[in-house]
Amino acid sequence: MTTIAIGSDHVGVRLRGEIKTYLLDQGYQVEDLGPETETRTDYPIYAKKVAHAVTEGRADLGILICGTGIGISIAANKVNGIRAVACSEPYSAKLSRQHNNTNILAFGARVVGLDLAKMIVDEWLNASYLGGRHARRVDEIGALEQSDDNLFEHIRTANDVRYVDKEEL
Ligand code: RB5
Repeated sequence: MTTIAIGSDHVGVRLRGEIKTYLLDQGYQVEDLGPETETRTDYPIYAKKVAHAVTEGRADLGILICGTGIGISIAANKVNGIRAVACSEPYSAKLSRQHNNTNILAFGARVVGLDLAKMIVDEWLNASYLGGRHARRVDEIGALEQSDDNLFEHIRTANDVRYVDKEEL
């Protein structure tokens, strides 16, 4: 069963509750990392909690909500191993999974309503990573994250079967 860690800042509390119910209704396991109330707080606190739940394997994927989805995704992307997308429409959500192997989806409670948020979540969760040439690029991102120029060049020039496209996309 897929476990999804979910968190927000104070602006995203209500939408987070609604998305949590939506996920539970579809049979996902949800780890809700808060906050409990709409008292003003800082989005990096919850970005950190959800990002670590994903990188430590307590959750398969994460969903983060702030006012725009921007601050909370920037914070999550500072954690090694996280590829978070801030997304306000379904097409980019789907491609972020297929091409960029995103493991956290972020959106803004001041930007999207509940119905659009559900569509974004559906497209993201129902898409799968395509690998192939995208795998080389995602691995290059990993080398950037480690500030490892040698590794980056190794990946960039590698003749690796994992980097061969199964189909042209
Ligand atoms: C809070 O006012 C707001 O800045 C926050 O929710 C988020 O949108 C930041 O990116």
